[in-house]
Amino acid sequence: MLGRGSPLNLADRNSRRFAMTKMIRSLLVLAVVMSLAGAVSFAQSSGEATYKAKCAMCHGATGTPSAGMAKSMGIKAASDPAIKALTAAQEFAAVKNGKGKMKPVAGLTDAQIKDVVAFYRGLK
Ligand code: HEC
Repeated sequence: MLGRGSPLNLADRNSRRFAMTKMIRSLLVLAVVMSLAGAVSFAQSSGEATYKAKCAMCHGATGTPSAGMAKSMGIKAASDPAIKALTAAQEFAAVKNGKGKMKPVAGLTDAQIKDVVAFYRGLK
């Protein structure tokens, strides 16, 4: 009944093209969101890996030092109000320059220190 180029057919084709554009756009948004999520979880897991390698032997795997470490070295748990009161910049400085009995933690780039401090701050 309706020939090619009739107004109705044209409208139908346009709306289909519109739906396609919308779909491509939401796929693009999805791809961006996924890649951001990937970058964030990578940062977290690299902070965690650094913590395990460079901090856990003194601060404990979960941020609570063993009783012996706490007593002999004076290490507080990550949940301690005195630690919670520290800013990320103060913790960064403690790792980079050392603090009291904690020597500067060697072998870390500034970016790695940032990541590990972020991980440490997430420990309860
Ligand atoms: C050799 C043991 C040791 C290692 C390894 C170590 N720390 Fe510490 N850390 C300590 C001790 C001891 C203190 C307490 C320092 C003080 O106040 O005298 C401390 C204190 C801290 C503090 C509190 C600083 C403040 O201003 O009170 C933070 C934050 C911290 N450590 C984070 C880390 C992180 C993150 C790592 C790994 C990159 C790490 N530490 C590795 C022993 C260690």
